[in-house]
Amino acid sequence: MTICLGIETSCDETAAAIVKDGRIVLSNCIQSQIRTHQTFGGVVPEVAAREHLESINQIIDLALSEARLTRKDLSGVACTVGPGLIGTLLVGIAAAQSLSFAWDLPLIGVDHLYAHVCANFLETDLEPPFICLLVSGGHSQIVHFSDYNDFKILGQTVDDAAGEAYDKVARLLGLPYPGGPAIDKLAHDGNPHAFKFPEAKMAELDFSFSGLKTAVLRCLEKLEQPWPVSDIAASFQDAVTTALVRKTIIAQEKTGVPFIVLAGGVAANTVLRAKMQEQSKVPVIYPPVRYCTDNAAMVAAAAYFTKSAGELGFGGDPAYSRQKRSRTTRTK
Ligand code: KG4
Ligand code: ZN
Repeated sequence: MTICLGIETSCDETAAAIVKDGRIVLSNCIQSQIRTHQTFGGVVPEVAAREHLESINQIIDLALSEARLTRKDLSGVACTVGPGLIGTLLVGIAAAQSLSFAWDLPLIGVDHLYAHVCANFLETDLEPPFICLLVSGGHSQIVHFSDYNDFKILGQTVDDAAGEAYDKVARLLGLPYPGGPAIDKLAHDGNPHAFKFPEAKMAELDFSFSGLKTAVLRCLEKLEQPWPVSDIAASFQDAVTTALVRKTIIAQEKTGVPFIVLAGGVAANTVLRAKMQEQSKVPVIYPPVRYCTDNAAMVAAAAYFTKSAGELGFGGDPAYSRQKRSRTTRTK
């Protein structure tokens, strides 16, 4: 049995969580900085790093106490090492390194994008193979997972990420940061066919969203105030989700995998989830909203499944354990 403390500080959430064997969440604590950054309309890296520094120790203590554990129960400490804001990442990495040294525990560095995918293993028995649509504030990718540590990127955005497009369009519409949840909510009262925003012509599984953002801007310039904000939000959301769903389904059909998996902050989107489920011939899996946006439970899960953890004798990637078992058999 492994019990891992995960730490996440890649952007504007200070988070710590305790996860057992990569799947069972014992605690999941988050201190969000959204209110601070709303004043600026986006994340200010230096301010974010300072806030992480103020909260990190309390959040780690809270994660241990909510799990009713002490440091003696832990098997390892994991933290996000990138991609993310360098100043904010350093706060989490320094905290994890110090605890690993002081408590004599293995330290596992985790890729933030891999962690988003691993959010799908929390509280489920999902196993690869699957196609993952990974859509966050900084990335949009279609990834084919043949196994826990065997994956290939089949397509990605050539410019803005899906979440970035949501945030920029929300700003144009005068909505608060982060834009995704605000547009998702407003779009419920709007007509998705009120405006026709074009889908960029891209290589089969690649995306482009910056032209869409410009199309919304041009549309707003021609409209008189007050803008039909709900209709614009719904039409923009329709264009983004149509492209995401269409290409993910092509990838699933090409590879023949038995699941489509959604990950990242935009996987919280209600229309994306509904459309993917409507149009996919295979089951569509997505995490609850609290595990879609940045959190530390996904970091602790990733620590369990990642290859480097297997090398430390910590992890649970069955492919790696199989290799280890066969090596042991041979030496006997
Ligand atoms: O994964 P995440 O929390 O952080 C990154 O790793 O970037 O993703 C944040 C992004 C933001 O762009 C935010 O607007 C978007 O996810 N987002 C949403 C929704 N909730 C968050 N986008 C669309 N619909 C949502 N419900
Ligand atoms: Zn993220």
